[in-house]
Amino acid sequence: MLQVIARVPAKINLLLAVGPVRPDGFHELATVFHAVSLYDEVTGSSDDGVSVTLGGPYGTRAPDGDENLAVLAARALARRARPARPPGVRLGIHKEIPVASGLAGGSADAAGALLVCNQLWGLRLSDARLAIVAASLGSDVPFSLTGGTAVGTGRGERLRPVPVGGPLHWVLAFADGELSTPQVYRRLDELRAERSAPVPPPAVPDDVLAALAAVDAPALAGLLHNDLQEAALALRPSLSDTLRAGDELGALAGLVSGSGPTCAFLARDDAHAAALASGLAESGTCAGAVAVVGPAPLGT
Ligand code: C5P
Repeated sequence: MLQVIARVPAKINLLLAVGPVRPDGFHELATVFHAVSLYDEVTGSSDDGVSVTLGGPYGTRAPDGDENLAVLAARALARRARPARPPGVRLGIHKEIPVASGLAGGSADAAGALLVCNQLWGLRLSDARLAIVAASLGSDVPFSLTGGTAVGTGRGERLRPVPVGGPLHWVLAFADGELSTPQVYRRLDELRAERSAPVPPPAVPDDVLAALAAVDAPALAGLLHNDLQEAALALRPSLSDTLRAGDELGALAGLVSGSGPTCAFLARDDAHAAALASGLAESGTCAGAVAVVGPAPLGT
């Protein structure tokens, strides 16, 4: 039996500038996506229908059946590719990326399903065509297809790769429970409405790209920023304790990843990241912490 495997990394946002809400309900973004070495593994084998089985530490937290984004991805690809007969796939997902955590775990699974099915069904769709299907599934799915580091604009689906001169060392501090992305965006809109200040067009400053090219972690530390952080902290005030703990333990910088609730901390090197991860894990301010490296490529 033919079996295809894709390993797709989690992402953090090194910069997330959120513009005003658009008529379609999405927000215009300027973001720097950065894939890190925490992977979901998606396996596909030939079958009659489309199905999914979930395993791994977060397997029971993700939806199974028709609500799973990987199942939706396989169905969307089957519709788009119009092969001679409707293809099927049995998907197996080993989830190491926590669910609804600001790390694009669901998007990683969708991207993995697209990669696996493209190969399993012999479709040979180009990266550009896969990216179109990916964008129809979610704003982060196109980036999950590429890994590495990229500037994202539009609602996050328009990508430009960013060169990074070497490895960067991070710690991810996981929270108990989840945050809903739409709810975090809504909260940001409310906070902005209360202030009634104009929202500038989102942009990625050039010095962020320069710090990445030079792998200058101290410079990058001063530039990390997430417009959604304020809203995530308003919805989950305990995340301030996690950020403070990382700061006190000597992280170069810390921020909420995407819409949260995971916090990401920048370390000087791998030994610093390992020490920071154990300090955070013991701090009582998070559910667990792991040291990771970025930019992470896709794996097979
Ligand atoms: O694209 P995705 O399905 O991941 O988006 C989930 C939700 O996050 C959207 O329904 C929207 O509420 C919010 N969102 C947004 N602007 C973006 C991306 C997401 O408002 N650029």
